[in-house]
Amino acid sequence: MESAKSKGKVVIIGAGFVGATAAFSLTMSGMASELVLVDVFKEKAMGEAMDLNHGLCFMGQMSISDGHYSSVKDADIIIITAGAARKPGETRLDLAKKNVGIIKDMVPKIMEHYNGGVILVVSNPVDILTYMVQKLSGLPVGKVIGSGTVLDSARFRYQISKHAGVDVKNVHGYIVGEHGDSEVPAWSVTHIAGKRMQDDTSLDKELIFQEVRDAGANIIKYKGATYYGIGVSITRICEAILKDQNSILTVGSVIDGHYGINDVALSVPSIVNKEGLVSLYDVNFSEEDLVALRKSADKIKEVLEQVK
Ligand code: NAI
Ligand code: 2OP
Repeated sequence: MESAKSKGKVVIIGAGFVGATAAFSLTMSGMASELVLVDVFKEKAMGEAMDLNHGLCFMGQMSISDGHYSSVKDADIIIITAGAARKPGETRLDLAKKNVGIIKDMVPKIMEHYNGGVILVVSNPVDILTYMVQKLSGLPVGKVIGSGTVLDSARFRYQISKHAGVDVKNVHGYIVGEHGDSEVPAWSVTHIAGKRMQDDTSLDKELIFQEVRDAGANIIKYKGATYYGIGVSITRICEAILKDQNSILTVGSVIDGHYGINDVALSVPSIVNKEGLVSLYDVNFSEEDLVALRKSADKIKEVLEQVK
């Protein structure tokens, strides 16, 4: 399924913990030929680019630089990691007002230079911001994706693998809906070697989900920010795009008329390749999972109505 194309230009807007970690992870992966870091605090982007360049002789040839919005031209992927991060005790949705303001200022600057490529939104609350970027940019739905619940699904797979005592790569699981408190563990489509986890009574499902849902807040409580998990999740999404993989990932996108959900951005299994999100991958969610997914959509909408 993979095409030969595996090199490309990636622009990261926001060179803080998440942007810089994603830059490091992408550089280590050798997947991009050009990486540009943009930040309102220009020296931060400069410093990160310098530091990364000093490791290149041990990693592989590519171009890494700091830049500005004009760098968006010819980018294959534009990653938005700029904005305030969640403070201890603050929910992702509390962040909405602050970061929507930043996005409203940023999107016209991106679009001034945009001539193609996929916009990947990571800043929180990622579902609200994915919706806003898609609407403000006027780009087709599939060209604006959010990291959504890719990180949560990775955390879910990790927790199940620990509890079940099997390799995390053999765990296929999906967190859907909001990247946040109303997210949904889709047990009905989660399996290990074809064995549905919904039917496995040996797993403490409530505990597993609690560990996943609260992971971001707990990491922030322990160390102030989360960046390795999301850094690698960003790299995985970039891989699906740069290598044209048709990968199924729980990226976020604006959903309108699917699963009984209208006009909101959230995550469900989706097919991702060099065009971005090419289609949702329809799965047979149980009625229980579907009801929870629709409730999650309603929660996101409540906030969206207040900020858009
Ligand atoms: P940070 O504070 O370390 O970095 C943010 C960077 O954005 C700073 O360098 C700041 O100068 C820059 N910035 C602010 N406004 C800007 C603008 N208008 N243009 C360009 N740059 C601007 O924060 P951190 O920890 O890197 O988090 C970034 C975002 O990512 C937060 O919203 C955080 O909540 C989110 N995040 C999302 C995750 C996800 O799974 N979706 C996981 C972890 C963090
Ligand atoms: C995370 O879940 C805080 O959204 C961030 O790690």
